Formats: sequence, C-alpha cells, structure tokens
Amino acid sequence: MSRLCYLPVVDSTNLWCKQHADQLEDGDAVYSQCQTKGRGRLGRSWQNAPGSALYYTVFLKGEMTDPASLPLAASLAVSRALEKVFGARTQIKWPNDLLINGKKLVGILCEGVPSGIVCGIGVNLTQSKEFWQKAQLPYATSLEASGIQPGEAAAERLAKELSAQFAPGGGLEAFRQKGFAALRQEYCAACVNLGRRVVFEGGEGLVKDVDGEGRLVVETEAGERRVFTGEVQVGGIYGQL
Ligand code: BTN
Repeated sequence: MSRLCYLPVVDSTNLWCKQHADQLEDGDAVYSQCQTKGRGRLGRSWQNAPGSALYYTVFLKGEMTDPASLPLAASLAVSRALEKVFGARTQIKWPNDLLINGKKLVGILCEGVPSGIVCGIGVNLTQSKEFWQKAQLPYATSLEASGIQPGEAAAERLAKELSAQFAPGGGLEAFRQKGFAALRQEYCAACVNLGRRVVFEGGEGLVKDVDGEGRLVVETEAGERRVFTGEVQVGGIYGQL
C-alpha cells in the first residue's frame, strides 16, 4: 500500500522526495499547500500560493517500459483525477501542461534520481484572477478563477486521487507495462497541439500527430520532424499568433 504524507511547509516536494528517496517505496507521495522553493521546468521557479494550490510529488521506482514518456502519461493521470474529483475538463498542451479555457492550470516536473523518478505536480486551486495579474502570469489560472469551486479539503481529495492513479496497479498501470502507446489515443483526444501551428527549437510547422513514443509529428517546409524535447509555442495558446 503506497503512503501519502502531508507536509505543512516544504521547500519543494520534488526536492523532499529526492532527499528521502532511499526511504520511499514505489508510489509513495507527499503533498503540501506551501512550497517556498517550488521548481518548474527548464530551470524556472514555480509560484507559491500558500493555501490556494496543491503541490504534490510521487516517487516511482517500479518497472517502467517507457520512462521518457512519463511526463505525458502523468498529465493524463492528472487530467483524469481533476475530472473525477471536481468534474473539471482539461486539455493538454504537449508535453504536459494542463489547460482550462486556454490557460495553464497544472505544471508537471519529472526528475530522475538513481533509484527512480520523482514526478511533481502543481495544481492551481483557488487563486483569484487578481493573484495572477499581480504575479504577472496572464496565461495562468486556477479552478476557482475558471468558475469551478473546488470545495472543502480540495488539496487532500485531489492528492488521494492522484495517488490512486500513480500507485502500482493504479490508473497508470497500462502505461507502466506497455509504454505511451497504451495511452496514445486518450492523450491525442486531449492534446491542444494537434492541427495547430507550432514553433519548436529548430523549426516550425503544423502538428499532424503524436506518435507511439510521445513525440510531436510536425509537418514543416523541410519535411516531417519529430519533436521530443524543449519548449513548444502553440498558435492560439498563451497569446501566440
Ligand atoms: C512547470 O514548469 O510547468 C512545472 C512545474 C512543476 C511544479 C510542481 S509543484 C510540486 C512539485 N514540486 C516542485 O518544486 N515542482 C513541482
């Protein structure tokens, strides 16, 4: 049985899991509502909103066929959990941002350690529109700012459902065993990039597909390109033309 532990204040739930990796079993997780040194993708920081967001990290160390696609699988797991717990319908901006009404609701940061992977998830629950204005993050949102009331004990309820997704034998078991191909259809149905123009590191073009390894298949003037890393700007999302 995986463990879920609440930390009233922490520097970063990802850092905490890395520091305690030798004591953690597959599927063990921690969560907090106050993170003083939250880490984002590509060396960025992640905004702290004490009491208004969920900061959750799960430690994964079991067999995994396709660990490189974990960020994509994790975004689907979070999307399922948000629908189940709050009835929220989200979309995925490749590889793993979750959007609601075109704004970022969830960020995910997966980091490898020698004994496994820590998968950190930040979910915006009740920050107000003014909070995002003040933080100068015009393309971020929360459940509440997008019209969904998360209700009592929202962080705890969501953390429990996330753990049900990530635990061994849980919602991501097919992914663990068969890799991204097992989730590809569900991922594509949620992915906002499909059919849109994107700018990636080294080119631009129209997204035709997401392949069985989780790569964006982009039709460019120079032919088809498969994109697996880096930042991708998507036409019509976050103010991109
Ligand atoms: C991103 O840049 O989009 C990824 C953000 C990931 C933030 C989460 S919050 C919980 C976990 N702990 C961290 O320090 N980062 C991740």
